[in-house]
Amino acid sequence: WFNFNSGAASKTEGEANNKTEDDDKEDKAAQSYLNKLIRSSLVNNKNEVEVLQKDPNSPLYSVKSFEELRLKPQLLQGVYGMGFNRPSKIQETALPMMLAEPPQNLIAQSQSGTGKTAAFVLAMLSHVDPSNKWPQCLCVSPTYELALQTGKVIEQMGKFYPEVQLVYAIRGNKLPKGVKLQEQIVIGTPGTMLDWCAKFKFIEPKKIRVFVLDEADVMIATQGHQDQSIRIQRMLPKNCQMLLFSATFEETVWNFAQRIVPEPNIIKLKREEETLDTIKQYYVLCNSKEEKFEALCNIYGAITIAQAMIFCHTRKTAGWLAGELSREGHQVALLSGEMQVEQRAAVIDRFRDGKEKVLVTTNVCARGIDVEQVSVVINFDLPVDKDMNPDNETYLHRIGRTGRFGKRGLAINMVDSKMSMNILNRIQEHFSESHCLSHLSLPDLSHLPNLQ
Ligand SMILES: *[C@@H]1O[C@H](CO)[C@@H](O)[C@H](O)[C@H]1NC(C)=O
Repeated sequence: WFNFNSGAASKTEGEANNKTEDDDKEDKAAQSYLNKLIRSSLVNNKNEVEVLQKDPNSPLYSVKSFEELRLKPQLLQGVYGMGFNRPSKIQETALPMMLAEPPQNLIAQSQSGTGKTAAFVLAMLSHVDPSNKWPQCLCVSPTYELALQTGKVIEQMGKFYPEVQLVYAIRGNKLPKGVKLQEQIVIGTPGTMLDWCAKFKFIEPKKIRVFVLDEADVMIATQGHQDQSIRIQRMLPKNCQMLLFSATFEETVWNFAQRIVPEPNIIKLKREEETLDTIKQYYVLCNSKEEKFEALCNIYGAITIAQAMIFCHTRKTAGWLAGELSREGHQVALLSGEMQVEQRAAVIDRFRDGKEKVLVTTNVCARGIDVEQVSVVINFDLPVDKDMNPDNETYLHRIGRTGRFGKRGLAINMVDSKMSMNILNRIQEHFSESHCLSHLSLPDLSHLPNLQ
């Protein structure tokens, strides 16, 4: 079932290796990988989906149960075995499209935790004819790790369907010359996949029925992946089903998606209402880093009634702050860029389980990580971009973690200079007068809302 030699495989195929101290250089692939590690179960996604059909006149099916999809019994068993009871929001609409006959193409916006991987894995497994001993589905992922994660889902979902086999097209997985693959599903990175199709001819592209391109936004960040993917796509037959997924849809991703997927159906997440109404925002005036620390200690009791995330600008500050808080006897978690992805996932897991009440981190580390029970966000340093301009998006993103699902949230901004006051004012201006920030004078905590 498993034809894969992990020892020989390169860990970062196609990835740039020029990691610097700069947090900003954190790569998107690691972020995505991390999110998948910590989102072992589906997150409660309140985003509504928006569906654009290729043929607007055809009826739009959506399903509320997996039974309605008339899956092969072995696959249904696999689905339930993975703990899925009913389709997620995106699966409700995406699955009927993906499983339709004749197959339909799809471009979908989707993050990890939405059931996306399970959906396309189900599509691949459903479209395979196990009696045909040749590759019928290709799935390309930006990195070795991401390919492996998807492979694990295929393995789990296909647990009761052992006739279907899987092989990894990743650097290091060397096959003898002249081999024709017998596995029905090939998952890998674009470079090796292209080699296996074009150069070594292990795969006959004309026999492929489903082509999946996962994490397109991460893909285009790596030089060459875009070209390689397009070259693979060009070798596939016209009636091959093309499925493309991306967490975001900025213009570059969108252009790429349209080159890969002709006549697509499109599923997009509706933009989350940017309401800061349920979030109380404060600022605290201080004169130095040390005073910010003191102020933080003053409110520590109040913020740890719930769970809090503290954002620092640099790893150095985050490390220092976590150290100081520990010295005061507080139990805090530190999420830092130097950590291995697995270590970071472990830290986040502990925090999610409530083992620590406070997580100190830099922006980059915590990007895209949802911990639902956070109700306090502290900007120990205000979010700024490279040119020291207020980073409005990040501010919204940080404090948007609080006040979810109708809960009340609290954001406290530490201001330590004229410059940072100016930054805060501009952030406030950006979000207009309706989102007023109140001055919080310490240690007067009387107007902190009740967080319980
Ligand atoms: C954020 O908004 C403020 C106020 O509108 C603006 O001055 C600032 O340039 C914005 N920041 C960025 C990075 O666009």
